[in-house]
Amino acid sequence: MDLGIAGRTALVCGASRGMGFAIARRLAAEGVDVVLVARTPGPLQEAVLQIAGESRVQVTPVVGDITTQAGRAVALAVCPSPDILITNADGPRPGNFRDYSHADWMAALDALMLAPIALIQATIDGMVARRFGRIVNITSRSVKIAQPELSLSNGARSGLVGFTAGIAREMVRHNVTINNLLPGIFATDAQRRHVSDLASQTGREFDAIWAERSAGNPAGRFGEPSEIADYCAFLCSAQAGFITAQNLLIDGGGYPGTF
Ligand SMILES: NC(=O)c1ccc[n+]([C@@H]2O[C@H](COP(=O)([O-])OP(=O)(O)OC[C@H]3O[C@@H](n4cnc5c(N)ncnc54)[C@H](OP(=O)(O)O)[C@@H]3O)[C@@H](O)[C@H]2O)c1
Repeated sequence: MDLGIAGRTALVCGASRGMGFAIARRLAAEGVDVVLVARTPGPLQEAVLQIAGESRVQVTPVVGDITTQAGRAVALAVCPSPDILITNADGPRPGNFRDYSHADWMAALDALMLAPIALIQATIDGMVARRFGRIVNITSRSVKIAQPELSLSNGARSGLVGFTAGIAREMVRHNVTINNLLPGIFATDAQRRHVSDLASQTGREFDAIWAERSAGNPAGRFGEPSEIADYCAFLCSAQAGFITAQNLLIDGGGYPGTF
């Protein structure tokens, strides 16, 4: 299926590894010029070389922290008018809600709520003017199934979801859609960090927790980044203009509800 987005430009945040990288790679395979943002130059350069070697599109790295105003300024200077915006950044580490300070909350809100909102503010009017825009926020299943050890994430990500619900209906008549992708467990570095933190907090073995999480999913495994990339690419397609304001789980059936 031709997704009808060849020649478009995508700003993909958190794109040197994991799900962001897989999404950038998948969009590039569709003929989309991609701008990849990450904080660490080495892995970012490797990611750019890999995608450039596989595709004929423009692949541009931006080194910066997308959760800061300075990082966003650099990204938007390189890519001021994306047709596709993928917001994504590291989530907070697990912990006990009693221990979180105001600064911890502000950092979580900056990363998971305010940075995506600032990027949307900066790019959406251009999408409306060009009558094409696809915004996908990579959030978490924690929006639908609160994770007790991730209260910073549960709270901050829900703020972003609430914000997008409010504006998405205003934009769709201009062929600009906003959706949130809610990953369950995916085999990435972030998942490895999370399991490692749980291991040190509980005194249990990393491998035991890893195996338990994998076996506990109805699919009996972790998701692969390429699977969320395929889903995301469709949401960014020309054909997906009637899908907006949705919170879309991709979790191997991990969410236990009927609806
Ligand atoms: N993996 C899972 O099972 C899972 C489940 C639910 C939700 N999530 C969430 O989904 C998001 C992506 O997870 P992932 O598993 O793909 O993570 P990952 O494998 O650790 O990759 C994260 C990517 O984002 C970049 N990045 C992180 N913070 C950034 C920032 N502030 N500015 C710019 N780039 C940044 C990283 O590069 P640098 O470190 O060099 O910046 C890296 O390229 C995270 O919010 C995570 O919490 C993951």
